[in-house]
Amino acid sequence: MNANWLPQMPVIKDWLADASLKLSKAGIPSPDLDAEIILSNCMLKNRTYLHAYPEAKIDTETLSKVDEIIEQRLKRIPLAYLFGYKEFYGREFQITKDTLIPRPESETIIDILKQINTDKISNLIDIGTGSGCLGISAKLEEPDLDVTLSDVSPEALEIAKINADRLKATVDLIESDLLASINNKFDIIIANLPYVDKDWARSPETNYEPSLALFADNSGKQLIEKLVIQSINTLNNGGYLIIEADPEQHPSLIQFATEKSFKLFIQQDYIIAFRYLS
Ligand SMILES: C[S@@+](CC[C@H](N)C(=O)[O-])C[C@H]1O[C@@H](n2cnc3c(N)ncnc32)[C@H](O)[C@@H]1O
Repeated sequence: MNANWLPQMPVIKDWLADASLKLSKAGIPSPDLDAEIILSNCMLKNRTYLHAYPEAKIDTETLSKVDEIIEQRLKRIPLAYLFGYKEFYGREFQITKDTLIPRPESETIIDILKQINTDKISNLIDIGTGSGCLGISAKLEEPDLDVTLSDVSPEALEIAKINADRLKATVDLIESDLLASINNKFDIIIANLPYVDKDWARSPETNYEPSLALFADNSGKQLIEKLVIQSINTLNNGGYLIIEADPEQHPSLIQFATEKSFKLFIQQDYIIAFRYLS
């Protein structure tokens, strides 16, 4: 057999350079990183390996897999959907097209939760739980709390259940439109509800996320304001409402909640935490 007939298998550094160029031309904001994540995931190695062995050849099977994923990524499908998971607060959460991709800015909700003296606090509900990343992280960081995960989407709740089981977090799950089907009282409500106004500029990647998880009327504030009002009957006196919103929405949301007997507890980055003091 003439050696010239053998298919040319690229080495790691050449494939990375080529993939990164394609991604960059498609306007992907972090082309080098994305190319490395795609290759390292498909080779079942970490990214350090790619730099340690730049001349190593990529086998045929891996090559067809990575090339296929690059094609998908060029259509701006987020990496988290291509691989089916996303890390949040140091743990891996399964995600699907029915769940929002957990965002790093939401981790501040867990940081704030850990600043609350939980001695007299017994339970917490996560409204709009999606993948369950917030409520499950809350349970795993504060194991003494009884935690309930809730969402209006049954498909999202199925994924939240899978994540709770995988991460061994004992939680209750309930389908509800905000607090409409919630009969218990809670000490803490956490919520990353949809707060994007349809007119805002967005990355093309968000087109693959569920509209139900992104958009809200009234400049994005409709669901949050509704939750503030409903929380009055669900929170125990002195209880906490911790919500995520765009920082530009914060001043009007703080005014709205303050007029309804909520007191600002902490405002940090995307997160506002209130106490309900009737
Ligand atoms: C921005 S996503 C947040 C998901 C997850 N908590 C996170 O931080 O990644 C908003 C979630 O709220 C849910 N949702 C939308 N409208 C709702 C409503 N009226 N009642 C309860 N959940 C709702 C969506 O299904 C979605 O899972």
